[in-house]
Amino acid sequence: MATLKCELIKNITTEKVVQHNKISIVGTGSVGMACAISIILKGLSDELALVDTDEAKLKGEVMDLQHGSSFVKMPNIVSSKDYKVTANSNLVIITAGARQEKGETRLNLVHRNVSIFKLMISNITQYSPHCKLIVVSNPVDILTYVTWKLSAFPKNRIIGSGCNLDTARFRFLIGQRLDIHPESCHGWILGEHGDSSVPVWSGVNIAGVALKSLNSDLGTEKDQERWNNVHKEVIASAYDIIKRKGYTSWAIGLSVADLVESILKNLRRVHPVSTIIKDLYGIKEEVFLSVPCVLGQNGITDVISVNLTPEEEAHLKKSADTLWGIQKELKL
Ligand SMILES: *[C@@H]1O[C@H](CO)[C@@H](O)[C@H](O)[C@H]1NC(C)=O
Ligand SMILES: *[C@@H]1O[C@H](CO)[C@@H](O)[C@H](O)[C@H]1NC(C)=O
Ligand SMILES: *[C@@H]1O[C@H](CO)[C@@H](O)[C@H](O)[C@H]1NC(C)=O
Repeated sequence: MATLKCELIKNITTEKVVQHNKISIVGTGSVGMACAISIILKGLSDELALVDTDEAKLKGEVMDLQHGSSFVKMPNIVSSKDYKVTANSNLVIITAGARQEKGETRLNLVHRNVSIFKLMISNITQYSPHCKLIVVSNPVDILTYVTWKLSAFPKNRIIGSGCNLDTARFRFLIGQRLDIHPESCHGWILGEHGDSSVPVWSGVNIAGVALKSLNSDLGTEKDQERWNNVHKEVIASAYDIIKRKGYTSWAIGLSVADLVESILKNLRRVHPVSTIIKDLYGIKEEVFLSVPCVLGQNGITDVISVNLTPEEEAHLKKSADTLWGIQKELKL
């Protein structure tokens, strides 16, 4: 009995579908789903795989996305708690992890999540041995190191979302003060994501005009205009948002989609993301911190050498020591 479908449609190929831009997202909490919708709206993937242990929630999220198919070029979406659905991903985004509790520091989260990473990473690498990995879970610099160790992937394919969001917040807040679009406010936050990040004030500029050339106290305690409050606000942002809405999601999702775009389109744009920084800035240990990185189809292919002041360099060194102090206790 011929069905309506076979009356209507004649399949004339025997070839299997080949995915080129398959993206998997592990963890479908508020961050994972914000990444998913940002990636979908930018039309970056030809297949999206979602993995979560909570199958009911997972199914609900997928249905809810798919029902929007009339309004965007929705990629094929597959989902399961079984990592098999992630097979042959070009890029895997890890957002799974314990949510930062009110007032909890990111570093406190680490021990709680290493064991879960062991199962997660071995599953991911088994099904997508050639993928690039973007780690978003906090504490991101340590978990990026953990991912690098457990996956045994070359370092270029391990990317921590790091200070990408801190930098975006910095540029937004500078833009607010100057009434200029953040895209035209240039400035970088480097080092450890979160409480001990380093704003590179010497590089902050609009149209090539260094703000430091107009106010030599910029970013210091002496500054009458208290520009260093901008950095303090960046640090307080996550805590502040969590206090108000319980979690952060939209900006991190958009910032991850921006990294994904550079990678999948091989744009070679420069982003402040977390990479292994051993042998840079006098750091001798295997720690991951954010520095400006060139992102393309092979992940992080180059890093930009930034001229840091001795204080900024000391600050990075201190973060590196703190992170190493925690990492060396981990049983990987
Ligand atoms: C057409 O048939 C091929 C081979 O059986 C199959 O792989 C492919 O998915 C089919 N295409 C569609 C659109 O159903
Ligand atoms: C992170 O740690 C917490 C506490 O042990 C745990 O509840 C959570 O499941 C862990 N990670 C993930 C991926 O869920
Ligand atoms: C893959 O993940 C599942 C569920 O988390 C776990 O039971 C299994 O041991 C993992 N597989 C590997 C090879 O680690």
